[in-house]
Amino acid sequence: LLSAIGGPRFAITDAHVAPHLPPIAYPLLVIEPGEASKGIATYSLVLEWLAESQARRDATLIAIGGGVVGDLAGFVAATYMRGIALVQVPTTLMGQVDSAIGGKTAIDLKAGKNLAGAFHAPDAILVDVQMLATLPAREFVSGAAEVWKYGAILDAELLAELERAPLSPDRTDLARIVRRCAEHKARVVEEDEFERLGRRAILNFGHTIGHAVEAAMGFGPLTHGEAVAIGMVAEARLGETIGLTEAGVADRLRRGLSRQGLPTEIPPGLEPRELMAWMGRDKKAGADGLAFSLLPAVGRCTLVRGVDESAVLDVLKQE
Ligand SMILES: NC(=O)c1ccc[n+]([C@@H]2O[C@H](COP(=O)([O-])OP(=O)(O)OC[C@H]3O[C@@H](n4cnc5c(N)ncnc54)[C@H](O)[C@@H]3O)[C@@H](O)[C@H]2O)c1
Ligand SMILES: [Zn+2]
Repeated sequence: LLSAIGGPRFAITDAHVAPHLPPIAYPLLVIEPGEASKGIATYSLVLEWLAESQARRDATLIAIGGGVVGDLAGFVAATYMRGIALVQVPTTLMGQVDSAIGGKTAIDLKAGKNLAGAFHAPDAILVDVQMLATLPAREFVSGAAEVWKYGAILDAELLAELERAPLSPDRTDLARIVRRCAEHKARVVEEDEFERLGRRAILNFGHTIGHAVEAAMGFGPLTHGEAVAIGMVAEARLGETIGLTEAGVADRLRRGLSRQGLPTEIPPGLEPRELMAWMGRDKKAGADGLAFSLLPAVGRCTLVRGVDESAVLDVLKQE
């Protein structure tokens, strides 16, 4: 499929992924793995590399890796010569079901994650679940949190399937499940490509509290998916507290996510007030208070604006 792309090609990957790739016939830049590579320094390095390699406007940048490579390469492709073609080849479960789809590209600034970026839709996304075979188990489970999220917000049938057996790399129906999640994401993004209508914000289920937990812990102790799992259970509890979510949903998610190997409780030592402060700082917080994507029932979700602060504090306090 990659050979079908016309024009000169340039690829970028990271040092964990590179050893698993077949020989590549065009220039390949290998960056250091990890979130630290999603910053201005590597961004500038990739731009300079393209310029030195005399990449022109007709070039295609191919991002082969997880969300770090995908977000960084995406932002490079969005800005190099005011935009060149981009192909995403996600090699993490997180990438295949989430980050490679939807056209959001970004790098981190000192003040926070994803603070500089652009919408730049990929021209193609190539997904092969066999690439997940070499993914560390913890990274696989982290991506699985997003799969559970699609079940929770859009797909009760998928959620029930995951409850029967958690997602695993050797599951024979893995490709079907990944495709189903990718289609969910693509459909939501199509309805609200530039995140102006609120529809895309339903994908933030578990992320409002999850991001706060991730940030309060200083990014590192928890993977993104682990933080989101904690956030999904807390936000389901929040929905139940304000009477929007059917009773029992939070417990169902807690049991399932914990079978999947994900944490479900806010780590001890994180003060509710501190988490609230992180939520307020989130770039997704609106002028009219905190917005949450909440579940009336499993498989359905709705964006709720101006959620009462005291209800949120209550949920954050629960042991
Ligand atoms: N653009 C979006 O819409 C969007 C959505 C979600 C997350 N993100 C971003 O994605 C990033 C996280 O992505 P991620 O979870 O994929 O992390 P990642 O890119 O850091 O990859 C996780 C780890 O797995 C390694 N790896 C990747 N593929 C591998 C493979 N096939 N075999 C062995 N090792 C492999 C990587 O080197 C890395 O060490 C964050 O920066 C986040 O902000 C973006
Ligand atoms: Zn996420």
